[in-house]
Amino acid sequence: MIDIAINRVPESRLASSRWQQAPFGTVFTDHMFLASYMDGAWGHPRIEPYGPVELWPSLSALHYAQSVFEGLKAFRQDNGRVVLFRPAANAARFSRSMTRLAMPPVPEDLFLEALHRLVALDAAWVPAADQGALYIRPFAFGADEGIRARPADRYLFMIIACPAGAYYDKPVKVRTMPQFSRAFEGGTGDVKPAGNYAPALLAEQLARAAGADSVLWLDGREHRWVEECGVMNVFFVIDGTVVTPALGGTILPGITRDSVITLLRDQGYAVDERRIAIDEVFEAADHGRLQEAFGVGTAAVVSPIAGIMHEGHAAQLPPVDRWTVAPFAKTRLADLRRGAAEDTHGWMVAVD
Ligand SMILES: Cc1ncc(COP(=O)(O)O)c(C=O)c1O
Repeated sequence: MIDIAINRVPESRLASSRWQQAPFGTVFTDHMFLASYMDGAWGHPRIEPYGPVELWPSLSALHYAQSVFEGLKAFRQDNGRVVLFRPAANAARFSRSMTRLAMPPVPEDLFLEALHRLVALDAAWVPAADQGALYIRPFAFGADEGIRARPADRYLFMIIACPAGAYYDKPVKVRTMPQFSRAFEGGTGDVKPAGNYAPALLAEQLARAAGADSVLWLDGREHRWVEECGVMNVFFVIDGTVVTPALGGTILPGITRDSVITLLRDQGYAVDERRIAIDEVFEAADHGRLQEAFGVGTAAVVSPIAGIMHEGHAAQLPPVDRWTVAPFAKTRLADLRRGAAEDTHGWMVAVD
């Protein structure tokens, strides 16, 4: 067991937090985890009251974005037990993100122990099964003072967490934005550096101004192949077959994506991981063969797509109440998380 120093808050803010009334991601639990990388090693793991961290303006992460993050959830099951969903997959992805940004990866046992200890300490903040989940945000960044453009010598690894209400999955409209690319070969599309997200904000803003809710990202080279949808992986159901873009360096290997593929295959659905052109999606829609389209990710879980806009054309989908695949995936994931379905893959990890 890793020795983590704990400095508890004198009194919890939970009762006075009114987090249910606040926008998602603005109210944090009582504590945060920190560990420092110095002199070639990760050390000084500690849990402190959630609060400001003192940093220098020359902090290298601010200037060169040597910064990565993860996102996962803790759930309260029907029997009151608190569980994490596939945390080892997040630990492994965090490690890959750090390696890609020339950062010394946080050892996966430290990542997991830190998660468990923080969530156990702030377990009272995990909402009841039907009321949401605890969203957990691990992140790490270069903490050198000095604006030399080179890998930092010092880093901070932190975890913060915020309660999230039950997500209302109103079907979304998505739009391609071929003048922007989220990712490209040799880039960082398959990991989670902070620097992937700021460049997407303007595209998201313009898509919204044009009447969509989110961007349907196409590949950066030909602007032809569908890659992701906002910050979610994307699935289509065409003629009864589930199709999702194959991973290949420019798509984030989503943990929800992998879970949905597994659950659908367990249920006997054919799932094709392959390249899918935006023209194929429109052709299927034009011939009534596009049955469903949905995004998947930790935050929204399964988010139905009601319409797709591309180069002045709009593809409509059948009404969501006629869908079967997305509702199956959503319900099965929800049941697993509540403890109402058998966890045959060992995805739920109890926090004691
Ligand atoms: C770009 C992008 N795609 C997909 C996902 C979904 O990944 P996951 O299911 O692991 O949350 C995320 C969220 O992490 C993301 O940021």
